[in-house]
Amino acid sequence: MNHDQHNHKQECGGGESSGNSGAPLSPWLVGAFIVAIFWGGFYLAFNSGGFRQDVYESNAVSWTGGGTQAAAPVDPKVVGKRLYSQNCVVCHQANGQGVAGQFPPLAGSEWVNGGDKQGENHLVLLMLHGHQGPMQVMGANYNNAMPQWKQLSDDQIASILTYIRSEWGNKASAVDPAFVASLRKEHASQSEAWTQAQLLAIPPAKGTQAPAK
Ligand code: HEC
Repeated sequence: MNHDQHNHKQECGGGESSGNSGAPLSPWLVGAFIVAIFWGGFYLAFNSGGFRQDVYESNAVSWTGGGTQAAAPVDPKVVGKRLYSQNCVVCHQANGQGVAGQFPPLAGSEWVNGGDKQGENHLVLLMLHGHQGPMQVMGANYNNAMPQWKQLSDDQIASILTYIRSEWGNKASAVDPAFVASLRKEHASQSEAWTQAQLLAIPPAKGTQAPAK
């Protein structure tokens, strides 16, 4: 009798264990798996530069008359547009209008085109080191933060700025990579994002004219 019961238990045990192998995975495992896939996707999306060669090949921009590179000439505005859609579009939007109250517009902006107080140097410096705190753009007040972009090359920064100065009705001159290089050097000790007061305390200056496209 005891022996029979024992056998019976064994059978049941066997049945259970084969049932277990087909049982659903632990929700924790599934969750961890999904998190890992998303993390991987975001990591690639943010670090691949869209798998574009020009992100890694900073010499891909060729300024007419300026470069000694043998690479086929690439219009800085074309490169600038790509870099803009990779780096700036989330805040300033594809139409350059920004988001009311949060991200100021680039279309028509005195900071982009140069105003009574703003020079081309302020635009380049704002790009290199970022901006924090109150800022007035086209008569509206913002109080947010713009990240720094000094990790980009002089060519890349000049391309982006040349693009935003010629798009959405803006009609300002191209920005010369040599002007970016000189400001980068001059303000190498700037470790924090600028405030508007700090920027405007620097006298406005016009960049060395980039060679006409
Ligand atoms: C995370 C959001 C964000 C990103 C990304 C960003 N900006 Fe900004 N940008 C801002 C904010 C916010 C300000 C206003 C600064 C403040 O409030 O202190 C600003 C200000 C500016 C200004 C001066 C004000 C104006 O509207 O003319 C320019 C020019 C500018 N950004 C260009 C760029 C460019 C070019 C890029 C891409 C390389 C870029 N920004 C990426 C948030 C961003």
